Amino acid sequence: MAEIGKDINKAKFLLERGELVAIPTETVYGLAANALNPLAVARIFEVKKRPYFDPLIVHISDIAQAELYAAPLPEAARELAKKFWPGPLTLLAKKNERIPDLVTAGLDTVALRCPNHSMTLRLLKNLEFPLAAPSANPFGYVSPTMPAHVQEQLGKDIDYILDGGPCDVGIESTIIGFDNAVPTIFRLGGLSLDVIEAVVGTAVVKNFSTSNPLAPGQLKSHYAPRIKLILGDPAEMLRMHDAALVGVLSFTDDFHAPHQIVLSRSGSLVEAAHNLFTALRELDKMPIDYIIAQQVPDTGLGKAINDRLQRAAAEG
Ligand code: TXA
Ligand code: MG
Repeated sequence: MAEIGKDINKAKFLLERGELVAIPTETVYGLAANALNPLAVARIFEVKKRPYFDPLIVHISDIAQAELYAAPLPEAARELAKKFWPGPLTLLAKKNERIPDLVTAGLDTVALRCPNHSMTLRLLKNLEFPLAAPSANPFGYVSPTMPAHVQEQLGKDIDYILDGGPCDVGIESTIIGFDNAVPTIFRLGGLSLDVIEAVVGTAVVKNFSTSNPLAPGQLKSHYAPRIKLILGDPAEMLRMHDAALVGVLSFTDDFHAPHQIVLSRSGSLVEAAHNLFTALRELDKMPIDYIIAQQVPDTGLGKAINDRLQRAAAEG
């Protein structure tokens, strides 16, 4: 099993040796390696069982470090970075030759993100290289928001999990690119669309696709528990099925079921995002035949939560 600890120097030492370390961020835990070392990066794909066509996000400590690996950032991207970094926002920019092709799956763009977590920021500032890090879960499964989630699934494959506590935001970063200068959202996430549009104007939101290899985060089935998840009205489902065999994921607590997790009693979307992945993992351990999930209001962070629920419900 992996050691779980708060020793930034130990994380640094292992990463410098080309090993993998799980790192905390404000969104979800990442499975990190030296982004400039193709052998270390290859290990990420191996451990996650991730297809090589799915590019990784490169984590940096500030805009200046980002610009070491990308052609000058588009003006709109710069503006977003100034406003929202460190934070749950990933920017796509033309990469330069320092970034190995394995990281970007051969694309000419690189995904850059400055995470808002004090331990990981300190780690990044102490390293001579940026960190490639996907979410620290087996490919296609629910992302981890606590060290124990990482331990459960990847603990046997890595040596160290840097313990930064539970992730604040709880849902992955928003990914934005600038295709022909048009702001394009590749993944809804922890920084909501309206906040981004207030800075760069109307953005195109890429919808999900079953096969688009450019952005597997857009794969129709992703973030999925093992127990079948269905979207719908829990009250109606509970009337139609044996309630003892149904797990309910509800936004608020306006009804009750024997196996139920409420995302936010106060009806807060921020709290719901924070609780979402832990809730899915807990439901996945219950003695039930399927999970009925209620969609949340489709505003602000709710859009990203509903996106994750739809993908969790999609047939693989
Ligand atoms: O919040 C996050 O972004 C977390 C934490 C650890 O930083 N990371 C994360 O990584 O969610 P991952 O690998 O699970 O998801 C990264 C997504 C993938 O869907 C990938 O396809 C997309 O980013 N991506 C990476 N580079 C890309 C590129 N050049 N163009 C389009 N999509 C890209
Ligand atoms: Mg992921």
